[in-house]
Amino acid sequence: MAAARGQREQHTSDGPERTAEIAASLASGLRPGDVVLLRGDLGTGKTAFVRGAAHALGVTGPVTSPTFTIGQRYRGRVPISHLDLYRLAGDSGLTAEDPALLDDYLTPDAIAFVEWPDAAMPLIEAPAAVVTLEHGGGDVRAITIERRS
Ligand SMILES: Nc1ncnc2c1ncn2[C@@H]1O[C@H](COP(=O)(O)OP(=O)(O)O)[C@@H](O)[C@H]1O
Ligand SMILES: [Mg+2]
Repeated sequence: MAAARGQREQHTSDGPERTAEIAASLASGLRPGDVVLLRGDLGTGKTAFVRGAAHALGVTGPVTSPTFTIGQRYRGRVPISHLDLYRLAGDSGLTAEDPALLDDYLTPDAIAFVEWPDAAMPLIEAPAAVVTLEHGGGDVRAITIERRS
């Protein structure tokens, strides 16, 4: 996708399949080392978006929210990291807790997706893209992709 630096794309999704297509389109322009932040309320489809992106990047197994850890790694055409920092939101954040927690996931060889990124914000300096998902009634979601690089 030939997107200009700082470009903002607005999409309307009518279901998980469409969200996966939008995610695949973003994924096709990502490179190792890129970090994508996902913002939005519970159930807006952040994990569905990451699943679509990961499958587009060659991950063949299931992609679900990390439960017992802050993240997981998948093997696609490049390594994929998937973080969910929901449980850390509202805390003083990772900076105070343990910034090294991110080190296993935000590696130069991997493309990383971070749900609920606020707890890590001081530590993530230059995300490649910020994805914001909003409920639009029923299965409708407004998805905004702001590309930063
Ligand atoms: N347009 C849509 N895009 C993504 N998910 C959708 C959409 N419409 C309905 N859904 C449903 O909403 C839920 C989204 O869940 P999930 O991806 O886990 O959200 P989050 O990670 O933001 O909490 C799933 O059950 C999915 O099937
Ligand atoms: Mg989720």
